[in-house]
Formats: sequence, structure tokens, C-alpha cells
Amino acid sequence: MARSAPILADSTLRLHDLEPSSEEFRRAAVAGLSASPKTLPCKFFYDAEGSRLFDAICELPEYYPTRTELAILRRNAGAMAEAIGPEARIVEFGSGAGIKIRLLLEALERPAAYVPVDISREHMMAAAAGLAADFPRLRIAPVCADYTQPFGLPSIRGVTSRATVGFFPGSTIGNFTPTEAVAFLARARRLLGPGSMMLVGVDVPKDPHILEAAYDDAAGVTAAFNRNLLVRMQRELGARLDLDGFRHEARWCAERRRVEMHLVSLARQEIVIGPARFPLARGETIHTENSYKYAVPEFRALAGRSGWLPAEVWTDPDNLFSVHLLRSG
Ligand code: AVJ
Repeated sequence: MARSAPILADSTLRLHDLEPSSEEFRRAAVAGLSASPKTLPCKFFYDAEGSRLFDAICELPEYYPTRTELAILRRNAGAMAEAIGPEARIVEFGSGAGIKIRLLLEALERPAAYVPVDISREHMMAAAAGLAADFPRLRIAPVCADYTQPFGLPSIRGVTSRATVGFFPGSTIGNFTPTEAVAFLARARRLLGPGSMMLVGVDVPKDPHILEAAYDDAAGVTAAFNRNLLVRMQRELGARLDLDGFRHEARWCAERRRVEMHLVSLARQEIVIGPARFPLARGETIHTENSYKYAVPEFRALAGRSGWLPAEVWTDPDNLFSVHLLRSG
């Protein structure tokens, strides 16, 4: 289904900046700490330091998702490119360091445009500059945005693309609740338009010991990543809190098939943000992240509920991780 897509005027990396403000972080922190149980939204993990820590997590021996998904992409990039077809326009949700997209771009036939969307501006721009150097014919139109909120695709003039393909690797879809995931996929389907496709990386339920180790590594990198939310509150919101008064915890919740990350208060204490005081009991937690896991048929059913047609699925030999192709129909 050939259709021309509107794209950006110049070949430089012109940024479309919709970065969330500190004010947004303040509002989310105040709302989350006022709630019971207390929560903080995981999207605020990714400031410059959080993005660096996340990249370090991806290299950890315990964190199997990244290397497993990379192996699936490496082994099946040809088949994926075949399914996608030539001159595709790729929109990546949460592009980060941009390692996975390279495997796809190398396999694709004359990819037309790449639109990385990420909440972490400097990190994304550095990755986009690296890609621009390695793929000189590719039009790149970065968007700094929180993709959990509605946003538009930049127009890139002079580029005709065939299919528009959403790329959402890393099992980041697992950070949504199932209801939110359905809503996100439905919104992505509208954003990407008729004839589009979506390639989604999805982590799979497995031995709880493996899951908990992946989110509580021996080197303490995930603990630092989790704690970075507190550091950010201190620095950006002027919050008064005791950094050493919290411990990182990762727990597998079998009923909900999700790994939860918490910051557990080691004592009775208070977090103070401006005029607002948030008392914590000893042992009380701030719930900072969910990472839902879906068996292959479960995720296909979920995608179906959002209006996509589940198509090919690629997995690794140990069935640790899956990559799903969805078609808009
Ligand atoms: C890639 C964002 C989905 O939930 O596995 C890694 C984030 N959190 N370790 C995940 C994360 C703790 C990661 N996502």
C-alpha cells in the first residue's frame, strides 16, 4: 500500500522538542507520594544519569532481555526486513542508545526515514548523530517527547515512504499495565496510520529467580537506577530526603505476572518537597516500576484487543524473549 508520508525540510537533525518540564516531574512526584501505596512514574528514571545507568543495566550478566532481544534481531533481521518491505519509515518509541535500530536499518531495503522518540533529549541526540554518520542516506527526525502522552509525527518533506513501522523493543511495553498497553498500542496504530506495522519486543514469564536477579543485580546498578529517582527529586525539585534511608527491592508478582521495583523506607522518615511533607513508615515502599511479562499467546491476544492483527513472532531458542510483528490490517 504505497502512500507518501509528510517529512522534515532539511537534512540536519532538527529536533522536535516536547521534553517534559521539571514542573511535570514535580506534579507527578507530589501526586505519587500523596497516593497510597506511594508511587513514582518510571518514565522519570531517564534523565541523563538514568539513561547512562540504564545502558549499564543492559550490559549486566543478570539482565538477559537486551542480549536476548539483540540475538533475536540479529538472527531474524532479514525476515523482519522482508515482512516490512522497502522504503519504510521507522518510528521508534523510547529509542535510547539506538543499538537495536541499527540491526534493523542494516537489514532493511532503502529505509526512507527514522523518527526516534525519547524522553531523554541529549542521550537521543547523541545516538541520532551517530546514526546519521553511519546511514548518510537516511532522513532522521528526532522527537523529544513522552510517548505515553499524545504527540504528532514530524513532517519530513521530500521523503516518500511506503509502510510506516513502529519499533518498540526492550519489553518497554511491560512498563504499562495491560489496560494501558492496549490503549498505547491503539494510539500508536492511529499515529502510524493505515497500512502501518509495529515491531514490539516482549519479555516472557520465567523462573522468578532469573526475573528477580535481572532487576536486582549483584553490582547494584539497578539499585542505583532506582535510587536515581530520589537523587532527581533532590536536585530538580529541591526535595529534602535521606538517600541512604531507602533500599532497592525487586519482586516477582506471580498473580499479575510482573516484576515490581520498590524503594523501601529503612526508617520512619519524611520526604519534603516545598511546602508538602510526605511521611513514610519504616518498611513502607514507593512503587517505582512494573515490568509485565507476557507469554506469546497472551501478548497476541492483548495486541488484538488494541485493533492490531498479530502476525509473525520471533523468539530465542530458550524462549526467554519474543519479538512480535503486528499489522494494522
Ligand atoms: C527496558 C524499560 C522495559 O522494565 O526491563 C531495567 C527497565 N528497569 N531494569 C525493564 C528496567 C529495571 C526495562 N525497560
